[in-house]
Amino acid sequence: MTKLIEVVQQAGRNALGVGHFNVADLVLLKGVFEAARKLRAPVIVGASEGERDFVGTRQLAAVVRSLREDFDYPIFLNADHTHSLARAQEAVEAGFDSVVFDLSTLPLEENARSTRQAVEALKGLNPSVVVEGEIGDIGSGSEIHADGPAPERALTTPEEARQFVAETKVDVLAPAVGNSHGMRRSMVGGKERKRLAIGRIDEIKSATGVPLTLHGGSGTADEDLKDAIRAGINILHINTELRLAWKRGIEAGLARGEDEVAPYKILPSAVTAVHDIVSARLRLFGW
Ligand code: G3H
Ligand code: ZN
Repeated sequence: MTKLIEVVQQAGRNALGVGHFNVADLVLLKGVFEAARKLRAPVIVGASEGERDFVGTRQLAAVVRSLREDFDYPIFLNADHTHSLARAQEAVEAGFDSVVFDLSTLPLEENARSTRQAVEALKGLNPSVVVEGEIGDIGSGSEIHADGPAPERALTTPEEARQFVAETKVDVLAPAVGNSHGMRRSMVGGKERKRLAIGRIDEIKSATGVPLTLHGGSGTADEDLKDAIRAGINILHINTELRLAWKRGIEAGLARGEDEVAPYKILPSAVTAVHDIVSARLRLFGW
């Protein structure tokens, strides 16, 4: 099976973006996997610390591994937004393919120092594990945020990015390029869309030369996602859109009536709803 970093690099050479979709249960995982398989797209499923606490770190790794082996399919597992070395080590020991080591709320120097140590420690456990570092402020929480004035957030500069990558030796960098986690209420109905600083992505790519990840993909203008891939984004994270689809799908399943109690009859509408979002996003990413 091709390694994750090679899949990401190969996709980049073909101007394709690798989709990263967060999962918190089997409904999400089924929806993501079915959509990816239909399009023959390699896919990364991610679980944040909270999502891992809910599913079980080793349990999720076991299920994803079984999908990979039974279907001989390039599905990879990422420990998303991991804030401590202990949690990162736990995920790598469980067999995760990558870790987003996220100390982005710390001052840049401190972030770089600890991320460098994490890269060394995690590669010591598994030399092919992909470690992503994160810099800049893109907010937190794959949630629906209230409308109102949008927070002013600084963009990562090419020099900050270059220095951070050189100091830490991360495999992948997640910069702040106009992206942000979650969706404002006005984005849910499509009245507002996130816009990205495409020129800045281009500059950061030239300055670092490493694969780049776009976090906070939900609610982003379609044309910006396509332009971002052209400018050098390799991995694109989507979560809030899936959570919304999951919830609406569950509600549709429950609307089958109070006498319907079989989970495998109620939940397929949620699998389909998640599948449809993943499928639309993967097509946009070029698959
Ligand atoms: O790591 C997860 C993501 O960056 C998802 O962000 O909820 O805005 O799609 P999102
Ligand atoms: Zn993220």
